[in-house]
Amino acid sequence: MTPSGTVHEAVQRVLIDSDTLQNRIRELGRQISADHAGQEVTLICILKGSMLFTADLMRTLDVPVVVDFMGISSYGASTKSSGVVKIVKDLEERIEDRHVLVVEDIVDTGLTLNYLLNALTLRKPASLKVCALLEKPARRKVEVKIDYLGFTIDDHFVIGYGLDYNNHYRQLPYIGIIRPEMVSE
Ligand code: IMP
Repeated sequence: MTPSGTVHEAVQRVLIDSDTLQNRIRELGRQISADHAGQEVTLICILKGSMLFTADLMRTLDVPVVVDFMGISSYGASTKSSGVVKIVKDLEERIEDRHVLVVEDIVDTGLTLNYLLNALTLRKPASLKVCALLEKPARRKVEVKIDYLGFTIDDHFVIGYGLDYNNHYRQLPYIGIIRPEMVSE
């Protein structure tokens, strides 16, 4: 897809187009379904960045699934992690004895996911796994195990397919690198 029109003008370059995203998500779905055969999976969608990914991923799963949502504080108007993580919206259901799959948009420093996994472990799920669409290994500060990974990317600030800058651009149907002049720091 060629970026055109207002919202696409924030994009310097399309990094992962829509077809490539959907093909990879179908592969992840097949793998997750095979690994969870005979189980019911609780998908935890991490708001807001994972909403499009969760919606597409769950349509590829053929095991029984329930979905719940967790809101995590983000960077605000910045492209750097503050390292401070806060649950701003908690799950509605208990996850004790459930097979849990955390669906995350991107693992950057790893601080968010690390915090989250520690918090969820205390709730005693039967199993706890992570499916992340993207990871940026260059900026990792803590090691976190990603069980299912879509793509590894270089150290760019990316927007689209749920990912934002200052809460904008989530609706882009692809992952794009933001134009440096759009970023105020
Ligand atoms: P971490 O704690 O540094 O791993 O940050 C993870 C969170 O930061 C992600 O869930 C995103 O919300 C946000 N984030 C990290 N990198 C990007 C990016 O390139 N674009 C948009 N959001 C990002």
